[in-house]
Amino acid sequence: MRTLLTGGAGYIGSHTAIAMIEAGHEVAVVDNYYNSSPEAIRRVEQITGKKIALYEADSADKDRMREILAKERPDCIIHFAGLKAVGESVAKPVEYYRNNIDTTLTLLECMKELGLTNFVFSSSATVYGEDNIPPFTETMPKGACTNPYGWTKWMQEQILRDAAFASEKEDSKLSVVLLRYFNPVGAHESGLIGEDPQGIPNNLMPYISQVAVRRRDHLTVFGDDYDTPDGTCRRDYIHVMDLAEGHVAAAEYAVNNKGTEVFNLGTGNPYSVLDMVKAFSNACGHPVKYEIGPRRAGDVQDSWANADKAKEVLGWEAKRGIDEICRDAWNWQSHNPNGYDK
Ligand code: NAD
Ligand code: WQD
Repeated sequence: MRTLLTGGAGYIGSHTAIAMIEAGHEVAVVDNYYNSSPEAIRRVEQITGKKIALYEADSADKDRMREILAKERPDCIIHFAGLKAVGESVAKPVEYYRNNIDTTLTLLECMKELGLTNFVFSSSATVYGEDNIPPFTETMPKGACTNPYGWTKWMQEQILRDAAFASEKEDSKLSVVLLRYFNPVGAHESGLIGEDPQGIPNNLMPYISQVAVRRRDHLTVFGDDYDTPDGTCRRDYIHVMDLAEGHVAAAEYAVNNKGTEVFNLGTGNPYSVLDMVKAFSNACGHPVKYEIGPRRAGDVQDSWANADKAKEVLGWEAKRGIDEICRDAWNWQSHNPNGYDK
């Protein structure tokens, strides 16, 4: 299968490129490097020994995307490109709505013009909102999101669903797979690629990694007064290579089906913030320093997946646990303390 990954130089896209190639598929990547570096793709080529067609382009640019898609004619588009920082989305909502929604609309328009039909979308567990109680199942109603980033995912899911429904009456029937990721963490086992956030990390695992490598003094744990066994919030941390392999299964499903299908990509196992600190301390061989701070606005207490549907329909399930997650995150961070910036 020929695949085209928008945002393919980013964290999840670069790992997915490896999994796709290892499964025998071809990969082309489009990225504007807003939050990434072409170095990530160079390393994917090093790991896989395969050449990747790499296009520097904005996925919202219709002329460029029409040209690239006409040349590549992918069997499946996997749409990772998007802005993803929750806090920044509150400060810059218009930029988030513009970039995230425009990229999806542009791709849908180009696909229609070119008769391309299969689409996999990077959605998020954030669409379950605050009112559903975990474990989250795909049949639960989407909830109210707590930030503009979450709403962009919520809206893109709706746009894609509507487009697939309308296409049922057309010659080119769309196949849309919406993947709701839980908390992607870890890195490729080689230590050559991994998460490389710019500035101070917003997310737990990159923050812990930077404390472990002594780039930051300590982690602040956002609240220890939640109604959980150790008082800290619980999440479903999924190894990025498990997530990547989930995309292979999803793309293969997309090319063989029509309509819209939604899958959680999670492990089904919740871990607390302090569980992750402990597991990382074991992996790196010294204690990760932390202090307890106040709760972070907008955090939900608990979020984890019911991952049964992906197992039953896609034949996919996460195989790696938190020890592998921390081992691989540490391997990446300790060999690349400044990320791709040498
Ligand atoms: P990332 O920032 O590492 O990757 C996104 C990539 O898209 C970057 O390389 C960026 O340069 C590129 N990009 C952004 N706008 C673009 C545009 N208009 N045209 C071309 N390229 C553009 O983020 P990631 O963690 O790899 O996330 C990938 C996708 O998964 C995103 O859509 C994100 O919202 C979604 N997601 C991520 C998480 C997570 O915790 N990492 C969780 C749920 C969903
Ligand atoms: C995990 C836990 C924090 C940092 C976010 C987005 C979500 C999705 C994944 C894209 C929480 C605690 C964190 C720190 C801490 N992204 N924490 N100290 O908030 O579950 O999900 O990323 O779709 O939409 O909201 O992930 O890694 O930020 O936090 O104590 O310095 O770690 O309170 O309990 P989150 P996270």
